[in-house]
Amino acid sequence: MAGNSACVCVSDFEVEAKKVLPKGIYDYYRSGAEEETTLADNVAAFKSPCDCRWCLIPRVLRDVSSVDLSLSVLGQQLSMPLCVAATAMQRMAHPDGETATARACQAMGTGMMVSSWATSTIEEVMSAMTTSPGAGGVLWLQLYIYKDRELTLSLVRRAEEAGYKAIFVTVDTPYLGRRLDDMRNCFKLPSHLRLSNFSTDALAFSEGDYGSDSGLAVYVAKAIDPTLCWDDIHWLKKHTHLPVIVKGIINGEDAALAVKHGVDGILVSNHGARQLDGVPATLDVLEEVVGAVQGCCDVYLDGGVRRGTDVIKALALGAKAVFIGRPVLWGLACEGEQGVIKVLQLLKDELILAMALAGCRSLSEVNRSLVRSVKVTSRI
Ligand code: FNR
Ligand code: LAC
Repeated sequence: MAGNSACVCVSDFEVEAKKVLPKGIYDYYRSGAEEETTLADNVAAFKSPCDCRWCLIPRVLRDVSSVDLSLSVLGQQLSMPLCVAATAMQRMAHPDGETATARACQAMGTGMMVSSWATSTIEEVMSAMTTSPGAGGVLWLQLYIYKDRELTLSLVRRAEEAGYKAIFVTVDTPYLGRRLDDMRNCFKLPSHLRLSNFSTDALAFSEGDYGSDSGLAVYVAKAIDPTLCWDDIHWLKKHTHLPVIVKGIINGEDAALAVKHGVDGILVSNHGARQLDGVPATLDVLEEVVGAVQGCCDVYLDGGVRRGTDVIKALALGAKAVFIGRPVLWGLACEGEQGVIKVLQLLKDELILAMALAGCRSLSEVNRSLVRSVKVTSRI
């Protein structure tokens, strides 16, 4: 079976997932924009030491026989600072799609950001989680703002009613980035699937003529509102009682504006390098953002997190928690819910070990002194 015990790191899951996924779907999940410079940088930024990268500076003799990863995120108790980022159309990876991911997150006691473009409805994803008292897991809605604002608000209201705990509004996608493989493959949804949150075929990205282009780029240009600006953050906040987190901030000036506009959190993200190619790796801008918000709201990070040591570096540089996108898709493609559990457990185990080896017994001990930027000019 794919994703078997031979998978000892996230990249092993990707190798197995590639074997089972149709090429066009694997390409869609894997791709970054244009030359994929940022795609490589997101991962490379965590590696150390190489050029000028982050090294971990461990402390010793601290009794690390027990390590506590628990924390509160947006008012919810989580078992670890590693959550699942929104990735669209998960039923292309596995028939159970988003519902399998939600169950896996619940089993692991962590949070899942459900894409507006899920291939199950947000209510179905919520129902997949048990409601028994004490059961872990929390769902947040990732929101795309449509030209049709009533349609957008109806999704927000549905999320509130279904029990979602926060809205992550994506602000880096006025148009879709140029993902060359999707253009070559004329990417569109397999005909048995639809963006289930929407009732009309046009909005559900189902059927229809998308020309000889990335169908998703055509869909975004038709439906998503490129006029989005800061006033719309006020507008959204006015219409929901849920916390609003902006997803897709990668510099200090925008971070300060986000605080000024009353957001409840910032997710430092370059959309998994799928939008504007040539932007910095998210890890490389994290400190700038953290500095700019001056503790006024939480800061999270996604992009290129593939190891427990990556998580600890992001936390040391000021992220409250991190999110993973593609690794979840690889686990899902390999083994559905069990595959996602395996990926999350693997990263959790790596994180616990990294914490212990670094001399940290709880997240409160992960601070700036744990990482150092080391310049390496030559390594002969
Ligand atoms: C995404 N991402 C994304 N973001 C978003 O706001 N809404 C969405 O529907 C999607 N869909 C999506 C699909 C796929 C296939 C990928 C790879 C990514 C971006 C995602 O939330 C997150 O920012 C990145 O995936 C994080 O980077 P890594 O972990 O994939 O490197
Ligand atoms: C993507 C969209 C769905 O990155 O956000 O493909």
